[in-house]
Amino acid sequence: MSWEWSDFGTRLGGGSGIGELMDDLGHAIAAGGDRVRMLGGGQPAHIPEIDLVWRQQMQRIMTVPGELEHVLGNYEPPAGNLAFRTAIAELLQRAFGWQLGPQNVGVTCGGQSAFFLLFNALAGQFRDGRQKKILLPLVPEYIGYANQSIGGEMFRAIKPRIEITGDHEFKYRIDFDNLDVTEEIAAICVSRPTNPTGNVLTDDEISHLAELAAEHEIPLIIDNAYGAPFPNAIFTETKPVWNETIVLTLSLSKIGLPGTRTGIVIAREELIRSLASMNSIVGLSNTNVGQALVQPLVQSGELLRLSNEVVQPFYREKSAQAQQWVHEYFDPAMSYRIHRSEGAFFLWLWFENLPITSRELYERLKQRDVLVVPGHFFFFGIDDAEQWKHREECLRVSFTMPAEIVREGFRIIGEEAAKAYRE
Ligand SMILES: Cc1ncc(COP(=O)(O)O)c(C=O)c1O
Repeated sequence: MSWEWSDFGTRLGGGSGIGELMDDLGHAIAAGGDRVRMLGGGQPAHIPEIDLVWRQQMQRIMTVPGELEHVLGNYEPPAGNLAFRTAIAELLQRAFGWQLGPQNVGVTCGGQSAFFLLFNALAGQFRDGRQKKILLPLVPEYIGYANQSIGGEMFRAIKPRIEITGDHEFKYRIDFDNLDVTEEIAAICVSRPTNPTGNVLTDDEISHLAELAAEHEIPLIIDNAYGAPFPNAIFTETKPVWNETIVLTLSLSKIGLPGTRTGIVIAREELIRSLASMNSIVGLSNTNVGQALVQPLVQSGELLRLSNEVVQPFYREKSAQAQQWVHEYFDPAMSYRIHRSEGAFFLWLWFENLPITSRELYERLKQRDVLVVPGHFFFFGIDDAEQWKHREECLRVSFTMPAEIVREGFRIIGEEAAKAYRE
């Protein structure tokens, strides 16, 4: 017997790129060992100094009388624990001078859920029949947004300008000439640093987007999953911004706590209230463990020190090392380019005029136990995607795994790409 599915059920229950990716990731990690080189997911590295901090904080929770019982045994309010929200607001005030309080901070079950709620609350089908969209001013953009709509086509995306910045390097820039904020646009959204490319939109690009958003009275959503103040996986100088037009999302995942599923939204009070309402309808309340683990570290500022002195140098070094391996193993005659690595956990590789699609390259790499993500997944919301060859020429490769796995992975990618170019 097969049951009938609603539009919602069909859209969300029928599989997706992000679903496949998380499945691959979960199984590769569960299987363990070195056979599968898992360079596909957004899994943060296990940095020993950081893992030790979680262990110590867990011990604190176990030791302080009543703490464990509170964390495991209580429902918290749907906007999150008030002391945690206050600590986050104070941290952002201290770090960046922003004028905000706990009423501007909302907790969700991971950043991913925050986007599901935000996108569907702002865009999609309206009661009067209008269909509104989220404008992605630059694709490639985070694959995890792609299938989140519960009500029709949700994204309008703009192709970037491609700037060649070095012999084997390039950078995407927003093509403001083609960026029309029309009536159908409900919000503008960017990830910064960008997953998949490691791009960090410049301060100028961000202030231009914020001006456009303010002018059209719509929010600018900045997905700060990899950004400042934590985990601060940013390798360039940038100025974090927030004001009442901006919805900023943070997460505890990329500093090393993806298992706690803790997302944090910074926004005007009205939006935080709506988010709390949605949280209570969808899930009653949030997960407590992440908030409880990091709250003292947020209050003392230790989370910033760890981000700046441990996490950021760690990923900066990982990125530099990965680039070195690319240049070592890739045939220089091959027309490969790396997107300028300015943050996040990935190298974004562009094989110009590759005779096979990135999908086929992905399959061949999988045969050799190297898991990456083919680039086409990240180009959604553009009209003529099929015609744009660039979309089939890119791969996202994560560099967070242990060095030997990453090195072998890039060596094999170099071999397979060279073979494809010879065909
Ligand atoms: C750009 C970006 N945003 C949001 C998320 C969601 O992360 P989480 O739900 O673990 O907070 C991710 C995860 O990979 C991401 O890369």
